[in-house]
Parts: sequence; C-alpha cells; structure tokens
Amino acid sequence: MEDTRTYFLFHVVLCLLTWVVDCYGLPSDNLNLRPVIGVLAQHPPDSMLVGLEDHNFTSYIAASYVKHLESAGARVIPILTYREDEYYENLAQSLNGIVFPGGAVSISNSSGYGAAGRKLYDHAVAANERGVYLPIWGTCLGFELLTYLAADDTNWLARCEASNRADPLTLQVGYEVSQVFQEMPEDVKTILTMENVTVNFHHWCLTRQNFSTSGLSELFNLLATSVDDDGLEYISLMEHWTLPIFGSQFHPEKNPFEWSNDDHHDAIPHTPNAILSAQYFVNFFVNQARRNNQTFGSSGEEESALIYNYTPYYTGNTSGFVQSYLFSSDSTLMTNNSSPRTIPDQRITNDIQIHPINTGNNAAAAGDTLVTNPGYYSYQMLEGERSVPPLLASLQYVIP
Ligand SMILES: *[C@@H]1O[C@H](CO)[C@@H](O)[C@H](O)[C@H]1NC(C)=O
Ligand SMILES: *[C@@H]1O[C@H](CO)[C@@H](O)[C@H](O)[C@H]1NC(C)=O
Ligand SMILES: *[C@@H]1O[C@H](CO)[C@@H](O)[C@H](O)[C@H]1NC(C)=O
Ligand SMILES: *[C@@H]1O[C@H](CO)[C@@H](O)[C@H](O)[C@H]1NC(C)=O
Ligand SMILES: *[C@@H]1O[C@H](CO)[C@@H](O)[C@H](O)[C@H]1NC(C)=O
Ligand SMILES: *[C@@H]1O[C@H](CO)[C@@H](O)[C@H](O)[C@H]1NC(C)=O
Ligand SMILES: *[C@@H]1O[C@H](CO)[C@@H](O)[C@H](O)[C@H]1NC(C)=O
Repeated sequence: MEDTRTYFLFHVVLCLLTWVVDCYGLPSDNLNLRPVIGVLAQHPPDSMLVGLEDHNFTSYIAASYVKHLESAGARVIPILTYREDEYYENLAQSLNGIVFPGGAVSISNSSGYGAAGRKLYDHAVAANERGVYLPIWGTCLGFELLTYLAADDTNWLARCEASNRADPLTLQVGYEVSQVFQEMPEDVKTILTMENVTVNFHHWCLTRQNFSTSGLSELFNLLATSVDDDGLEYISLMEHWTLPIFGSQFHPEKNPFEWSNDDHHDAIPHTPNAILSAQYFVNFFVNQARRNNQTFGSSGEEESALIYNYTPYYTGNTSGFVQSYLFSSDSTLMTNNSSPRTIPDQRITNDIQIHPINTGNNAAAAGDTLVTNPGYYSYQMLEGERSVPPLLASLQYVIP
C-alpha cells in the first residue's frame, strides 16, 4: 500500500514537472481515434434461452453496453469465457479498454465471467504497471467483480435491496481530485447529485465500513454513495487511486438503451438529463481508452474479433435486456483447478467424472455422472433424482 501511495505522489510530481504532456498516456494531440473496447460475456439467464435452445448458446452480452460504447466513438469486441490464458493475454495486449458489464453470475472464478475477469484484471494491472495505459470500467456486477479482484478474491459485499431504483449520487470527500469528476461539466454534476438519474439493479452492496475494513480504500477513491430500499448507504462510484480502473454500481447504459417496462424494470429514467449524464460516463471512459494505442496483430485479426461478426437477438420478452448478443463457441472444460483447457467435442462422453468442487445452486458433486452427450456444451447431470440443468459456466470436470 505504501508503494501505491508513493507511486501516486511520484506520479503527481512527475505530472507537474512535465505538464505540457498529458500525464496519463499519449500526448493529448496523439489520441487513439479508433479505440477498441472489449466487453466480457457471461452465462445467460435461463429465460433468455427460451426458444433459442437449438443454438447451444453459452454466453451473452446485453447489447446496451455495446451501443453505449459505440455512441461514444468506440468499437466493441466481445470477450468470451472459458478461453485459454493466452486468449486473455493477447486481448490485454490488443484492446484499448475493458468493460466488466452487469449481470447475474458468480464473481468468483467458479463462473466463466469471474474466471476471465481475474485473468483480464491481472493482465491489465500488469500492463498499467509497465506503463501501458489500459483502462477498465466495471458496471454493477462488474463493480462488484472489481471489489472482489482488488481484494485478492475476497468478497466484501453485504446483502442489500437496490433493484429497479433511480437514485441521485451523494458525492464524497475526494471526488474533486478524481479523473471522473475533474472533466465533468457542472451541469452534469448538478443533475447527478440533484436528480434521480442513476439506475440501480443490485442485491449486493459495498458499505463504507467494508470499503475501509477490506483495505479497498487504500486502492480506490470513494467518489459517491447511494442508498438502498432500507436506507443502507453503499458505494455507487469509485476510481482507483493510481490505475485507470473505474466502477459504478449503477447502470449508465440502461438510460438510453433499455426499455423493459415490467414491474422489475420500470424505474429506468429516460429524461433528457438522465441521457445526458449517462452519456458523460461513457464519453469519459472512451476518452480513457483513446489514451491507449495498442492494436491487434493485424487488421484481419481485429476484423474477425469485432462485434460486427454477430447479430443481436431481440430478448425484450425473455429478459430485462431489449437486445442481446449470444455466443455459442466459448465453451471449454476445466481439466483441473489450475488450468482450463479446451476439450474437443468427441472427448465429452459419459465417462467424464465430476470433480468434487463447486458453487451455485445446482453444484455438481463427486460421483455425478454425465448422462447425456449432446455435444459441446449443453447437457445434464443426474445424481439420484437430482437433475442439474445445463450449467457449464459453474461446473468443472476431470477427464479420467
Ligand atoms: C462486510 O463483508 C462481509 C463479507 O465479508 C459481509 O458478511 C458483511 O455483511 C459486510 N458488512 C458490512 C457492514 O457491509
Ligand atoms: C428521488 O426519489 C426519491 C425516492 O423515491 C424521492 O423521495 C425524491 O423526491 C426524488 N427526487 C427527485 C428530485 O425527484
Ligand atoms: C504508442 O505510443 C507509444 C508512446 O507514445 C509509442 O512509443 C509507440 O510507438 C506507440 N505505438 C504505436 C503502435 O503507435
Ligand atoms: C419473443 O419475441 C420474439 C419476437 O417477437 C418471438 O419470436 C419469440 O417467440 C418470443 N419468445 C417468447 C418466449 O415469448
Ligand atoms: C492440471 O492441468 C495441467 C494442464 O492441463 C497439467 O499440466 C497439470 O499437471 C494438471 N494438474 C493436476 C493436479 O492434475
Ligand atoms: C479459483 O480461485 C481460488 C481462490 O482464489 C484459487 O485457489 C483457485 O486456484 C482458482 N482456480 C482457478 C481455476 O483459477
Ligand atoms: C447444438 O447441439 C446439438 C447436440 O450436440 C447439435 O446436434 C446441434 O447441431 C447444435 N446446434 C448448433 C447450432 O450448433
């Protein structure tokens, strides 16, 4: 922690000495005007797959994240789950920014999202420490993932009720020196603090107490708080003290791009001021990414990775997302606790045994047997009467 502080002070002094040059990366007249941002996929909610069973989809990205980044002048690449470490390492050397979106999967490495998040975070932190400015933004579950990863795989979240709520931000001492607020126009700050424009959909909260107890306060500047249904104050916006890592517990992408109006989603503010303030956050983050000039190895590599290779589905009647990108080719089985490995289709047979680990409501247990063999990812486990639905994202397997 001392090192971090020292580094921060050193950085400030260096910036003052060299203030003609942008302190945070490329000189300001040398911005990357073609930023490419990776958005991490996760296992879809079961409801989203209704009617789409034949596609064997194993992960998704809500299209609102993609549209929001595109609206700020970035292109998007989906980051798939259960890939080899080299895949994430290569992305960390090719992308200009990374987004951990919201959703509903485990933040530990028992989910594809959590496992990939760990790798991406470690690669990005290492890159930043080497002087490569590689920003990360976490929204909602992504915010929670950042707190878990930064606290060395410890979960400091408390149960709370803050779903389908529009709230103001209460700014906290220290916000003035943050990057997020330094560039924020006064009118946007007024909207965010005086109007209910930020929308929350979460059941886990990082309290001020745990922010300190965990030591996360040494790493992150607490910028703003909000309160849940019961008046519990929680951290709604934070920024790393020394690295370009940002987390919002609220969802800026929903204001302009999510339209579900059912009982669980009817609080999303679509007022002109809500749209304006939501756009500020994504403009801010894409500006961060413009300070990174990494590129893919070739234009062909970039083209084949871009989101344009996929078409979003209408999921407004099966989920809280009006459109979603769905992916089916990212399954990899975990061979053991240390290294995920892709298993060719033909290896997935009845003789795969379940390793005695796991998490989730339908955790597989030692002795579970693979009873169907439908191919690459979608299958069932049976243990006595217990039927476990396709849940690859939270299972690990051992090949005998
Ligand atoms: C602090 O985190 C723990 C989990 O590590 C959680 O059980 C507890 O409720 C949290 N307490 C507060 C006050 O947030
Ligand atoms: C924000 O929402 C709260 C709770 O619903 C309400 O009491 C308050 O009046 C709202 N504020 C504004 C400015 O609309
Ligand atoms: C990226 O920027 C750095 C620092 O300005 C420079 O040394 C490097 O050559 C640039 N790389 C590319 C691919 O433009
Ligand atoms: C959702 O809407 C699409 C497009 O109208 C339709 O094809 C699909 O059957 C609907 N799904 C469900 C589960 O209602
Ligand atoms: C885990 O897998 C890796 C590579 O697949 C292998 O090198 C290693 O020996 C395995 N470890 C155990 C304990 O099986
Ligand atoms: C998952 O995280 C736990 C706790 O940090 C760690 O012990 C384990 O090695 C990790 N497993 C994988 C596959 O990364
Ligand atoms: C989905 O999996 C089934 C069973 O393995 C297979 O027959 C089918 O071709 C797959 N569908 C697609 C679109 O890959």
